[in-house]
Parts: sequence; C-alpha cells; structure tokens
Amino acid sequence: MTALLEIQDVVKHFPVRDALGRRAGAVRAVDGVSLSVAEGEVLAIVGESGCGKSTLGRLMLRLIEPDSGVVRFAGEDLSALSPSALRQRRRDMQLIFQDPFGSLDPRMTVAQAVAEPLRLHRIVPKAEEAARVADLLSRVGLRPESAARWPHEFSGGQRQRIAIARALASNPRLIVGDEPVSALDVSVQAQVINLLRDLIRDLHLTFVLVSHDLGVVRHLADRVAVMYLGRIVEEGPAEEVLRAPRHPYTRALVAAMPGAGEKQAPLQGDVPSPIAPPPGCRFHTRCSFATEICRTEPPSLKGKAHRAACHLADSLPAMTLREEGLGGGARLARLQAYFRGNAPSPTGMGENT
Ligand SMILES: Nc1ncnc2c1ncn2[C@@H]1O[C@H](COP(=O)(O)OP(=O)(O)OP(=O)(O)O)[C@@H](O)[C@H]1O
Ligand code: SF4
Ligand SMILES: [Mg+2]
Repeated sequence: MTALLEIQDVVKHFPVRDALGRRAGAVRAVDGVSLSVAEGEVLAIVGESGCGKSTLGRLMLRLIEPDSGVVRFAGEDLSALSPSALRQRRRDMQLIFQDPFGSLDPRMTVAQAVAEPLRLHRIVPKAEEAARVADLLSRVGLRPESAARWPHEFSGGQRQRIAIARALASNPRLIVGDEPVSALDVSVQAQVINLLRDLIRDLHLTFVLVSHDLGVVRHLADRVAVMYLGRIVEEGPAEEVLRAPRHPYTRALVAAMPGAGEKQAPLQGDVPSPIAPPPGCRFHTRCSFATEICRTEPPSLKGKAHRAACHLADSLPAMTLREEGLGGGARLARLQAYFRGNAPSPTGMGENT
C-alpha cells in the first residue's frame, strides 16, 4: 500500500513563559515522531491525556506548524506549498472534533454548516448545493428535513453526524477524528462508530483516529500507534498490539481495560511533566520492569510491522488477556449488533441519535 500521509522526525514544542513573560522552558508535546498512514487505512493514536495525540493530529493536517521535521501528503511536502496550493490541499484533509456542541456555529442552520465547505472549495455549482447537502445528510443517517433546523435542536450524536457531514462535504481523502465519540453516551457511541466504519469503507477514506479509548480503537483501527510524553512507544497492527502488546506502557493500558483479566501491575503515579521528561526511557519512572539502563539510555523503536521502544521488549513475560474483556469490546459489539437492526429511536423522531 502506498502512504498517503508520511511524517518524519516531527517536533512541536510549546514555549512556557514565567510571570514576566520570559521564556522558561517548553512543553515537548511532540518530540520526534515518524509515522506513515497508507491510503484507505485507519491509524489510531492512543495514550493518556497530555501525551501529544491532538498536537500530532493537528500537525498531520498542518493546522499547526512543526518546529522541525517533514509532513508529506500524497508525496508533497506540506511546508513547501504556497498558501494557495495549501488552500487547495485543505479540501483533501479534514478534522472532526470531540465536542459536537462546540464544533458547530449556533448561528448557522445545518444546511449552512454543511454547505460552507462546498462553497469554500467550490465543490458544486450553487444550483446543486441543496441536493448535495441532502445527500450528505442522508449519508450520515439524518433526514433531508434536518437541513433547515439549528444545531441546538439536535442531540449530541446527531450533532456529531452533522459535523461528519460537514467534514465529508469537500470529498476529503484524509480525515483526522480527534476523540470523535468520546463526548457521546455509550449507546450513541456505538452508532457513530458504525457510521464511521461504513463511511471509511464506502468512501475509501484514510482515517487517523485520536482516542484514549482502546475499545473504540479496537472497532475501527487497522493500525495503532501508542504515544507517551510526545513519542511513539509502540506501533503495529491493531489486532496484534491489543492482543500481544510489547511495550510495558501499552501492556498497562491494555491490562486496565475492563475485564481484560490480566494481573499486570497498574500504571504507577502520574505522567511526568512534558516540560522536563525523564532521561533514558521516558516511561522508566512508572515502569515496573525498569532496570539501570532504562534510566540512562533512550530506547529506539525496534521491529518491522510491530515496533516497540523498550530495552526489554523481547524478554518480558507473556501476557494472558481474556478476549471477552478487551476494551469492553464484547459490550460494544453487542450494542453495534443491536443498532444494526431496527432499534426504535430513543428520541421518537424516527432519526438516529
Ligand atoms: N497551544 C498550546 N500551547 C501550549 N501548550 C500546549 C498547546 N497545545 C497543547 N499543549 C500542551 O502539549 C501537551 C500535549 O497536548 P495534547 O493536547 O496534544 O495532548 P492529548 O494527548 O491530545 O491530551 P488529551 O487526551 O487530554 O486531549 C500538553 O501538555 C498540553 O498542555
Ligand atoms: S525501556 Fe525499561 S523503563 Fe522503558 S518501558 Fe522498557 S523496561 Fe520499562
Ligand atoms: Mg487531545
């Protein structure tokens, strides 16, 4: 498979200033990340809060500039594009946010919100706009009549469907979904996950899923990259990483999933400050396997299809995970099966929630 998106040694530090406005250090949000996403692939970026997932997602879309490193989309270096060429490229790359309440302008009707990217990128002539909006709404499971209504009239799940329709309007090739279902109730999450999965398949989308929820990741991702303090610590096929994680951090995340049935020690303490990450392996302050070398030598990502950055990755005792428990996978699968049938609408409006 050819890579649609490639990032190489990307770094993004945010300056930290003291009370007098002087530079007093930097948050090392993304600290040397290389990844590629193949056309049609779903890559999940996972990790605890503050580890740099959203920053990496925004760097991938060049919504923020990297301090160094290269981001290539369809073989083109995005930082080398002129402003007008970048505007052209923007239609190929879209972002879906976590918060379906904040991401829609309350002063725009649904039709206006979905039509905005159509106009911006001159996707269809004005006369065809309404038909295209109706088509996009039906793609995301909403009735065409929704077009005339206002965002506040919809539930969280419906608003997220509107945000997805808006993201699809420019016929993008790449979508970054930043926690796209985290703000929704579990039953609604299952519906929106099903929708995303169908859209990714039917429209041959390349999708980067930013998520802290391994249950959601398991249902959507082909590949997983695990981040810790600005770096990728493990990366590989989703099924393998979740079944047989190689890095102690991933092992702890997987073991913490409800019902995983694994007795591995839970994560100790909090994530250290990204302003002064620990030397050596950044995870050593919380790792129950840490040895002397871990405190001084930073491990590099090793392996081919399934890579891990741990000095001891090849010598750790095997994990025995209970399939049933993985990320509430069985629970989500049951809900998804249910919603694939003729579930009555909880809103009584005959529309998806
Ligand atoms: N614009 C910014 N200015 C300063 N610091 C920032 C900025 N954006 C992010 N950070 C910091 O960079 C680090 C990584 O943030 P980021 O939002 O990428 O993490 P995340 O993994 O998405 O977390 P979460 O799961 O909570 O969304 C954090 O310490 C955050 O406070
Ligand atoms: S390198 Fe050492 S501290 Fe880091 S994850 Fe591996 S065992 Fe733990
Ligand atoms: Mg985030």
